[in-house]
This record gives sequence, structure tokens and C-alpha cells, in this order.
Amino acid sequence: MPNIVEYQVQGHIGVITLNNPPVNALSVGKGLLQGILDAIKAGDHDPAVRAFLLIGGGKNFSGGADITEFGKPPFPGMATLRDVLQYMDTVTKPIVAAISGPTMGGGLELALGAHYRCAITGAQIGLPEVKLGILPGAGGTQRLPRLIGAKTALDMIISGDPVSTERALELGIVDEIVTGDLLAAAVKYANRVVKEGKPIRRASSLTVAVEGDADAFFAEARARIAKEWRGYPAPLECLACVEAAVKRPFAEGVKFERERFEYLVGTDASKSLRHAFFAERAASKVKDVPDDTPVREIRSAAVIGAGTMGGGIAMNFVNVGIPVKVLEVSQEAIDRGFGIIRKNYAATVAKGRLAQDAMDKRMGLLTGVSSYDDLKDVDIIVEAVFEQMDVKQEVFRKIDAVAKPGAILATNTSTLDIDQIAAVTQRPQDVIGLHFFSPANVMRLLEIVRGAKTAKDVIATSMKLARTIKKVGVLVGVCDGFVGNRMVHAYFREAGFLLEEGALPQQVDRVLEDFGFAMGPFRVGDLAGLDIGWAIRKRQAATRNPSERYTKIGDLICERGRFGQKTGAGYYKYEAGNRKPIPDPEIEALIVQASKDAGIARREISDQEILERCLYQLVNTGAKILEEGIAQRASDIDIVYLFGYGYPRFRGGPMFTADLIGLPQVLEAVQRYEKAVGPWWKPAAILEKLAAEGGRFNG
Ligand SMILES: NC(=O)c1ccc[n+]([C@@H]2O[C@H](COP(=O)([O-])OP(=O)(O)OC[C@H]3O[C@@H](n4cnc5c(N)ncnc54)[C@H](O)[C@@H]3O)[C@@H](O)[C@H]2O)c1
Repeated sequence: MPNIVEYQVQGHIGVITLNNPPVNALSVGKGLLQGILDAIKAGDHDPAVRAFLLIGGGKNFSGGADITEFGKPPFPGMATLRDVLQYMDTVTKPIVAAISGPTMGGGLELALGAHYRCAITGAQIGLPEVKLGILPGAGGTQRLPRLIGAKTALDMIISGDPVSTERALELGIVDEIVTGDLLAAAVKYANRVVKEGKPIRRASSLTVAVEGDADAFFAEARARIAKEWRGYPAPLECLACVEAAVKRPFAEGVKFERERFEYLVGTDASKSLRHAFFAERAASKVKDVPDDTPVREIRSAAVIGAGTMGGGIAMNFVNVGIPVKVLEVSQEAIDRGFGIIRKNYAATVAKGRLAQDAMDKRMGLLTGVSSYDDLKDVDIIVEAVFEQMDVKQEVFRKIDAVAKPGAILATNTSTLDIDQIAAVTQRPQDVIGLHFFSPANVMRLLEIVRGAKTAKDVIATSMKLARTIKKVGVLVGVCDGFVGNRMVHAYFREAGFLLEEGALPQQVDRVLEDFGFAMGPFRVGDLAGLDIGWAIRKRQAATRNPSERYTKIGDLICERGRFGQKTGAGYYKYEAGNRKPIPDPEIEALIVQASKDAGIARREISDQEILERCLYQLVNTGAKILEEGIAQRASDIDIVYLFGYGYPRFRGGPMFTADLIGLPQVLEAVQRYEKAVGPWWKPAAILEKLAAEGGRFNG
């Protein structure tokens, strides 16, 4: 094991190597930063050393702070990144940083404290802190603008997105691109810095370039960011820090940056964003399927059905180079499906986001087939035919007869029992649900539905496949609607009851949009099309429990031919070619009449009641899902909602929101609605238990 920091003098250069695999996280507790500080101090006092080189052992310079140290108490006596940077600013021998691989956050801040930076092609250089609701808190907001100007620095800090080595050179973050062996090339560059007598260039001593009038620039940026990042405090704080870099001396700017960093760490938004970050990592772990479970190779795929979902699913595979055979009932159906895929890609090409030859390559990986025999050699088959048990079982009988041993047989069903589908095959262990969300080529969520007999390696392979096709896979169990749809159903239902009791669609939508959803439930309904739900409800009518509350408002709207935006009217009306919802007196009259017919006296409904009833339906349903073991952990439910249903990320997901509010308060409201509204509000046992214990859904 090499030391976490290696220090060696090569000729005149004191080479400091970071050795903290896998990404050289800047660990305080493990002594990485202390090691860097000690090395610089040693070299500073060594007359043989004329310059320093900071370099990452392994693939990258440094990926940033050690996230496992987040929220932990400080390590007394150990140097922090700020200590190192402060010392670097006093050193009078040139310090060169050699940038490679992901050089992010604190990693970049360390490099910005050097006097010169060389980089190898392929690095990713950025300050992603804003994505966790914080800001670069070790001088990043002060040094970067001094190097590259206020506007570009602000854009980089607020987007959090990395730039390439070449772009970093253009911007002035990097002074030189080196090639070949990084260590040898960087040592050579450091020697050149010495030989040419290049001055000590501290970013902290530079002044920030601002194009035009600084006050006007910041006023415009502030207005734009406030609008674009509603609910997220970090971007505005980043802006304030960049403004401080322009208007105040470096020492004051750094102090201000520290204050704003401390403030942001304590905000609910940052807690939520950090939760979302860790939740996404946790979701990839399956409790009884160890990380080293062998996986099956997925080199080829088949999709059955080229409708709305099948087409999008096929795109996911070909996008990553996996060839797909698509089986349909007729050549016309194939042509229709492929036509839509082609149109989809062509739109991306037209926007300049995909090259024509890449599109051609993807289309070339699609093959339409009509016989099940053609599926005998593929590694995975995803069924996306009509949502009918008999149709799906028939398809599974046929694929069971031809698929090669070990092939994964997946269904995209949204509601049907995977075990009943698996039962018609001779290999239920190979059957799994892969529940994509519409549009399947866009939505990141993939619910991976485990049947009673699904084999562990099929689960492990599916989790890996999710990553390969750039989805966020979440393992769920079998129940009606799995996690996401079961919850959203409760949410929509409650929103409908609110209409019946006295609210109007525009009020409900406004409250949920103010909370942070991009669209309230009725705007979502109008966008998605109201006829789909109507058809399902008509089918369910015969089996519906008559004692259960049911609002007819949705059905009455559909009976008027109002299916949402596609028919120019739904819960709202729309002007031709415009998606702006316009409240409609006809709907208000319909709702008022429906309340009357249901014998409900309409009343004033407060915004707070609307929010509580919609949100706590999600939470209480999520809690039941958790206690039934349908989801492995509360954070998985949050991930489903964040990636599949547009839940505002700055609120962390419904279960995390409940944790932040406090479970006793959530429980009190749920109990209140159970009394006032109806028995479907019965609190989940786990909610009662955790509230009593002072616990949280998320640990
Ligand atoms: N649409 C959504 O939002 C959505 C979301 C998630 C999951 N799903 C599920 O995905 C599945 C497909 O839904 P969709 O919206 O794509 O439906 P769709 O009606 O758009 O497409 C179904 C396609 O399957 C084809 N098909 C029917 N029977 C077939 C058979 N025996 N062999 C081969 N092809 C056959 C049809 O010709 C049609 O093209 C359903 O199980 C649905 O519940 C849909």
C-alpha cells in the first residue's frame, strides 16, 4: 500500500502524489490533506526544490471532498482543504497541478490554488457542489472568476457541469495541455515553468474581469436565476459569492463564501438534494443480492410490441449499441413503430443533439421480425403488448418455447401480476418485470419488479442493465401499480375528492406547483390524456366496491369528449397550438353540479388542506408500501417519485419530505383526515410506530 500522499523530489521538482483510490477524495480524516500540507511545507524549506507538482496517482487528480465525511464532526488537528490552500497562497516557489480524469469540486479548488495547471485530454473539470444544494466552499467561487471572468465562472458554478480539457484551456482554467505519460509530461512542464522564470501567479491576487457594467450584469443574472431555480437557494448564493469576488478583496470574499456555505448546508433544500444523491446510490443495492452476484451477458435484445412503450424501450437498447429484434403482429405495425422511432431520432438530429450517422447506426440496429423463432438467440426479451393477462400469458408461452436457456424474459406490465405471467412458463426464475415509464426513451426511472421466483442473478443483471441503458433502476415487489403508480393513483384520487368538496382544478394545481411540482395533477392529466384512465375505470366499474368513495368528475369530463390537450379541452380549455391551460367556466359548472349530485356541500378549501391531502396520500401510501416490503427502503420510494413523477428534487422525495416535516406532525394530519374525510386515510402502522419512537422513514 503506498502512502495516501507520496512526496518525492525529482530533480528540482517536489512531486506530491495523491493516492486515495478510487477517485482521490480529499479526505481530512485519513490525512490526505494533512499529507499534502506537510509535503509542501517540507519542500518549501528544501533549497533543492524549486517548484512543486501536485498530481493524482491512478486515473484522476481528485474527484473532490470525501462524501463519507459529510455531516461528520471535524477531525481536530487535521488539515482541511482550506488550510492547504491558505498555505499554498504563501508559497513562493511555483506550484503546478497536473489535472487528469474527473477533477471536481474540492479537487478543482485545490488545483485552482496552484499557480499553473497542466491537464491531459479526457479530464472533466467542474464544480458540481450546486447539485447538492451547496457551493464550492474552499475558495472556488473566489478563484475561478478571477481566472476566467465573472460570467463564465458563474455559468460553470451554477450549472455544476464539467468542461473538457480543451474547453478548460480556452477558458483559462488550464494553462497547458500535455500528452503522453502524465507524470513525465507534467514534470517537464514544471521544469519549464522554473526555467522560464514564470512568475508566481496566484489566482487570489488577480482581479475579476466583468464585461460591461457589473451591477447591471448581477441584477440581470439574479432575476434570471431566481426564476429558473425556484425552490433552490444555492444558485443565488453562488451568484452572491461571485459578486463578492468582483467587489471585495479576496480575504473578505473567502470569508463571505464560507458563511454562505455554512448557511446552505443547513437548508432543507441541501439536505434534500444530498438525500437524493445518496438515495440514488443506495437504490442500486439489493439487500439479498450481493454485489458479487454473477450477471448474465446482455449483448442482444428483443422487444415484443412496437407501440408507445415498445418503441421507446427498443431505443434504449440501440442507443447503447445493443441490437434489438422487434416482433409485432404485422408488417404495418412494425412500419408504424419504426416510423415513430425514426421521427424521434430525426427531431434530435434537427436540434443538433445527435449526428446523422449516429442515428443511422441506431436505426441499423433495429430489425423487425414476425416469427418467434427469430428470438431464439437473444439474451433478453422485453414484452410490451396490450395490458391484458391473457394476451401477455400467450406471448410468454410462445417465448418460453423458443428462448435460449438463460435468456431473461421481461414484461413491461404496469399493473398485472408478474407471478401469474411467470407461471405459464417453464422458467419462472428467468421472468422479471421491467417497468419503463412513458416516454420510455426519455424517462430515467425503471421499476425492476421481482416476482416470487425471480432468480438473484436475473435481478443483478437487470440492475446492471438499468445502468447500461442509463436508467435509474429501483427494485420493487409485486402489487397493484407497484410503487409509483400505486402512489400516484392515491394522489390523483384525493385531488379529485378535493374538487368534489369545493376546490377547482386551478387552485389544486397552483398549490402543488407552488410546492415545486412542474405541473399540478389536473394539468398532468390534460397533458397525458384523460381517456386512458377513463377506459381503465370503465373496465373496473363492475368490480368496484360500491361503499368506497368514487368521484365521477373525471368520467363526466371524458363523456363530453374532453380528453385533455389533444382534444383542446380537459380540466382546462386550450387555444389552438397553445399549451397554456385556461380555467373553464363549463368545468366549474360541471364540478359544482357533481358535488350537488353526490350530496356534498361545497366549502372553502384552504391551500394547506390541499397540500396536506395530496402530499400525505403519497406519504401514507408510500408507508404502506414500505411496511409490506414492496419497496426495500424509504429512499427507493423517493427515487421512484423523483425520477418517474417529477417530484421536486429540492424536496428530496415524498418520504424525505415527511421526515423533514416530522412524522408526529404528519401522523396528526393523517389521523385528522381519517376522521374528517374517510377511512382510506387510516394511518400506516409504520407511520404510527416511527412517529411514536421519534424515528424517520429514512433512518
Ligand atoms: N403507455 C404507458 O404510459 C405505459 C407505461 C408503462 C407501462 N406500460 C405498459 O406497456 C405495455 C404496452 O403499452 P403501450 O402503451 O405501449 O400499448 P400500445 O397499445 O401503444 O402498444 C401495444 C403494441 O403491442 C402490439 N401487440 C399486441 N399484441 C401483440 C402480440 N400478441 N404480439 C406482438 N405484438 C402485439 C400492438 O400491435 C401494439 O403495437 C402495457 O403492458 C402497458 O401497461 C404502458
